[in-house]
Amino acid sequence: MDHFLYRNGQLHAEDVNLATIADSVGTPFYCYSAATLTRHYTLFREALDPLPNLICYAVKSNSNLAVLKLLGDLGAGMDVVSIGEYLRARAAGVPGARIVFSGVGKTRDEMRAALEGGIRQFNVESDPEMEALSQVAESMGVRAPITLRVNPDVDARTHEKISTGRKEDKFGVPISRAREIYARAARLPGLKVIGVDMHIGSQLTDLAPFESAYLKMADLVRALRQDGHVIERLDLGGGLGIPYTRANDAPPLPVDYGAMVKRVLGDLDCEIEIEPGRLISGNAGVLVTEVIYRKQAEEREFLIVDAAMNDLVRPAMYGAHHDIEPLIEPPAGAPMAPVDIVGPICESGDTFAKQRALPFVAAGERIAFRSAGAYGAVMSSEYNSRPLVPEVLVSGDHFAVIRPRPSYEQMLGRDSIPDWL
Ligand code: LLP
Repeated sequence: MDHFLYRNGQLHAEDVNLATIADSVGTPFYCYSAATLTRHYTLFREALDPLPNLICYAVKSNSNLAVLKLLGDLGAGMDVVSIGEYLRARAAGVPGARIVFSGVGKTRDEMRAALEGGIRQFNVESDPEMEALSQVAESMGVRAPITLRVNPDVDARTHEKISTGRKEDKFGVPISRAREIYARAARLPGLKVIGVDMHIGSQLTDLAPFESAYLKMADLVRALRQDGHVIERLDLGGGLGIPYTRANDAPPLPVDYGAMVKRVLGDLDCEIEIEPGRLISGNAGVLVTEVIYRKQAEEREFLIVDAAMNDLVRPAMYGAHHDIEPLIEPPAGAPMAPVDIVGPICESGDTFAKQRALPFVAAGERIAFRSAGAYGAVMSSEYNSRPLVPEVLVSGDHFAVIRPRPSYEQMLGRDSIPDWL
């Protein structure tokens, strides 16, 4: 459930008419709902209750400081994959003791900065990383708390580009070598082994791959304890999928996921960490855009909108589907016709949807791409010298711009021409 609904024939974010925001900030813009973010976070809390747990929001899905502050104030931890994300979480007021550091390529500088600033744990992904972290920590006279990310070799049955738990993927250490690598980790002077970590992929719409991975994890925890390790935390990663269409699309809910976690891992006496991103932020955001032209080509009609693949890359990159809704509610029974919705960028890949059945939307009217709160703004670029689109947060009947649209002067001002040119 989210808070983007028609009221009096106009699409609203909570109690705010999206047209009012469009008039104020211009299009395109991202709009997030505070109530939806809160609700999704709370669903996970309730789903894992009464197991000791920490919901470490995956910052990569939407890293706006206001979003992080909202979730951090609710008690969320954060999962970060770069020192940039770490600094964002800290700037939003999240203490280091609630931040986990994931990622396959942490640099020594990043490790040092996180150890200096305070960190809950590093999720280590390889032997060389383990050694580098131990050296950095030792040089600082501290021991870095670690889990090892174990690759359980299960197929998450999701999009090829966001599947991470098969043995051919670059992530984690193979489960078959885990005991040997844990034994080496325990001997490294700068490390303190505290748990096991796993993340098998994103947008999973079935609990079965999670369950088979978690069963392997439970066996591993028992084996590691027999080997003498103290395993207190299980980081289960993120990945629970969301409905991208209103019709015929009902992935498992956090409550179903939580019940499975409790059933499979509940008796291990571990603190459970999860790293959901998309499920918290995805359906808490829309991208609003205006139709510039309707263009009739020989075989099809195009809706050319002022957002483009640089603003929301998911359709171009993964062939992802985003539901589209006009800001003005179409009358009941309005005729639907197939159109291609495209952006102004000079390549054919700049296509949001092909032959999508939509009611008539005239040039100058606005539409919203739904489910755009996760992996939307964070993946945007300035390709074609298009300024990054602004982000707006709604709560109840008020809204605030939480990232303004940069001016062209600001955009150009970041470059410099050497004096020898
Ligand atoms: N933890 C780790 C270690 C991850 O790599 C990810 C996502 C998450 C947690 C959060 O996963 P989520 O709960 O959001 O599914 N850009 C792609 C998604 C990439 C996901 C990368 N890792 C997309 O737009 O679909």
